[in-house]
Amino acid sequence: MAKMYINPNVELSKINREIQGHFSEHLGRCIYEGLYVGENSEIPNVNGMRKDVVEALKEMKLPVLRWPGGCFADEYHWKDGIGSKEKRKKMINTHWGGVLEDNSFGTHEFMELCRQIGCETYVNGNVGSGTVQEMSEWVEYMTFEGVSPMADLRKANGHDEPWKVDFFGVGNENWGCGGNMTPEYYANEYRRYQTYVRNYGGPRIYKIACGPNGADYNWMDTLMKLAGNYMDGISLHYYTVPHGWAGSKGAATGFDENEYYLTLKVMTFTDELLKNHIAVMDKYDPAKRVGIVFDEWGTWYDVEPGTNPGFLYQQNTMRDAIVAATTLNIFNKHSDRIRMANIAQLVNVLQSVILTEGAKMVKTPTYYVFKMYADHQDATLVQSSVEKTTIGTEENKVEDLYESVSKGEDGSLTITVANLSATEERKIDAVITDYDFKDIEGSVITADMGAYNTFDKQNEVVIKEFADFKKTNDGIAFTMPACSVVKLKVRK
Ligand code: AHR
Repeated sequence: MAKMYINPNVELSKINREIQGHFSEHLGRCIYEGLYVGENSEIPNVNGMRKDVVEALKEMKLPVLRWPGGCFADEYHWKDGIGSKEKRKKMINTHWGGVLEDNSFGTHEFMELCRQIGCETYVNGNVGSGTVQEMSEWVEYMTFEGVSPMADLRKANGHDEPWKVDFFGVGNENWGCGGNMTPEYYANEYRRYQTYVRNYGGPRIYKIACGPNGADYNWMDTLMKLAGNYMDGISLHYYTVPHGWAGSKGAATGFDENEYYLTLKVMTFTDELLKNHIAVMDKYDPAKRVGIVFDEWGTWYDVEPGTNPGFLYQQNTMRDAIVAATTLNIFNKHSDRIRMANIAQLVNVLQSVILTEGAKMVKTPTYYVFKMYADHQDATLVQSSVEKTTIGTEENKVEDLYESVSKGEDGSLTITVANLSATEERKIDAVITDYDFKDIEGSVITADMGAYNTFDKQNEVVIKEFADFKKTNDGIAFTMPACSVVKLKVRK
């Protein structure tokens, strides 16, 4: 029996809903086919956006969407993606699969997609191959209300009102695909480019500097030192690549227990990574004004055999659900510093919540985790802990339980726990301090570690009702199945 302690009276930080954000790049079949099929498609759509996908994303409560990249962002020239579609410039997406990019999905389409989903907008600008003027004009085009060359151009292209740009990224991975810069060089570039990301009287744009690649603490240190005062947030990218970047990364399906625990070991490093980066940030910003924007995370396996290697299409199993649930619990615990996070990527790329094939669509195990965790959005993290046991194989060991607990405005508690054990259930005795409650509602996602949903079998891994709990004198006792994610909603 593992003891869990929850103290709803110790309120720690707000879990910004954007921590459950997503990312959509012009990569493979994420934008084209996955989200956007064009107005003339036979696939049911509204202004070109797939109805089935938009519906599913609304139901999941997607809070914010990042676009257009990724590496694509630093090759993207926004003016190629506005105006009459027939006249838009066609180019080769050199980074991702060498396919034709006809620019039919551009700024207007992105804003329309976010309008339909009802989510906030996170636009990523081009530092690597773009100019200060280009970036500055894009912001003017999107957000300026009055009379100006770019606002007039937007109006001529059919959109009178300015849009709301909630978040703006000044470059992406500028230590790599975004220009191979040194941190010192990028810090100066950041200072220069961000100067012209103007706020035109509308809601303030949250400016994000390009942060480190995984454990590059020197990048974080240099950026915070040289440019910390000029940013609202700094990005961080860390992927769960079971075997690392060289050679095979590991298969998305058909893996054994050792591979399962290896994946979880690589994923749970996220906690240590965050602690280390936060320690660096605290040196320069003890008040925690600058937020971490963990805008690329998730599993990255070998592509599905037979698919374009540049499209990064992979299946998604119960293992991915455990990865998502554990990571979101870790993020919640660091929500005093994390402003936003964006799993990569929304549809058909890496750890997606949705896969499509022609008119067919399937929700992945990861989808159900996000849906289950939506109650944490904008709730308050409260103090909690759980007794952990080390599990795994000889080579790959992890701790078994990861939890987080939040309190909603109505005083209800959302308790989410992931049981990482592939084979063993876990009995948990949760003590809840000074909290009288009447009602407990449980839900669970559980399956064999390798189970997944397909277009023909959609319900192998879904959210089910969970009833294996009972009220005790001082809290709740419950039994989690092996390889599971449980949510308990506790109401006064
Ligand atoms: O998400 C896929 C790619 O991973 C992104 O384009 C890039 O930023 C990262 O290297």
